[in-house]
Amino acid sequence: MALTIGVDVGGTKVAAGVVDGRGRILEKVRRPTPSTDPIQTAEVIAEVVDLLKGKFEDVEAVGLGAAGFVDEARSTVLFAPNLAWRDEPIKEKVEGLAGLPVVVENDANATAWGEFRFGAGRGERFLVLVALGTGIGGGIIVDGGLYRGRFGLGGEIGHFRMVPDGRRCGCGNRGCWEQYASGNALVHEARELARVAPAMAGRLLELGEGSPEGISGPEVTQAAREGDPAALECFRTVAGWTGQGLADLAAILDPGAFVIGGGLSDAGDLLLEPVRAAFEAAVTGRGHRRLPDIRIAELGSDAGIVGAADLARSR
Ligand code: BGC
Ligand code: NA
Ligand code: ZN
Repeated sequence: MALTIGVDVGGTKVAAGVVDGRGRILEKVRRPTPSTDPIQTAEVIAEVVDLLKGKFEDVEAVGLGAAGFVDEARSTVLFAPNLAWRDEPIKEKVEGLAGLPVVVENDANATAWGEFRFGAGRGERFLVLVALGTGIGGGIIVDGGLYRGRFGLGGEIGHFRMVPDGRRCGCGNRGCWEQYASGNALVHEARELARVAPAMAGRLLELGEGSPEGISGPEVTQAAREGDPAALECFRTVAGWTGQGLADLAAILDPGAFVIGGGLSDAGDLLLEPVRAAFEAAVTGRGHRRLPDIRIAELGSDAGIVGAADLARSR
């Protein structure tokens, strides 16, 4: 059976794998993303593709999941709120360097497809993947197909306006959902608390080696797991915004399930329980409708690789 390569290009790492038709990763490699240079990023992508291609003869195509707005031809990254890419013809560049057909997809769309085909969304034909990481990624499955919109930009759920005149977003607008409900938002909450009310944030500050800026996402999760009230409060705040956003999405899309992925989903029930509570308190028509299940993604950080590879197979 023909193999394809899936590549997940994020702000911090390029992760790639050779994937078979059943969604199994046969071999995987990782490289740090070169800081801000898109040309170097294309070279790193080509390098990992080359390396994997050298080990498996029958690789036929490459699927690339990129953290930004991908055009309808699935070849150019038009804009990336949290990366340096602007009108980047990434398909052309990587095809030129790696000598294989390339399909470019939004990272969260690829993740949604991976979870739908092989993970927590199997069998659920109306599904929304919400990836809580640096920003918020969205992937919408409608009646078993990936929803891309007219110009390829459907599913940019991180940028609906949650708070009028709210926090500034990497996209240039104010009040976007991803400023309140992402992994970065959790860190923002924790650092603010440590700055303004250090007496309450003893454990968080300890983990951050004494400074608010030293506090990282996994450390907030660790403190919350230990039962630290300040960290738990940060979780409640972020989970509250998350649940409210899901309620708005349910009003529009009425999915059978929300699958929550991204780094923040490592917190599991610590996140899920308050998200569900906030969702149920906010969803329109409550008491008179069936509610979507809200669950954690299954494939973790592999979902983007597996999804991109599968989309390249059916290109
Ligand atoms: C971008 C999306 C991306 C998401 C997760 C958002 O800021 O707009 O395109 O999918 O971050 O990486
Ligand atoms: Na998307
Ligand atoms: Zn935004």
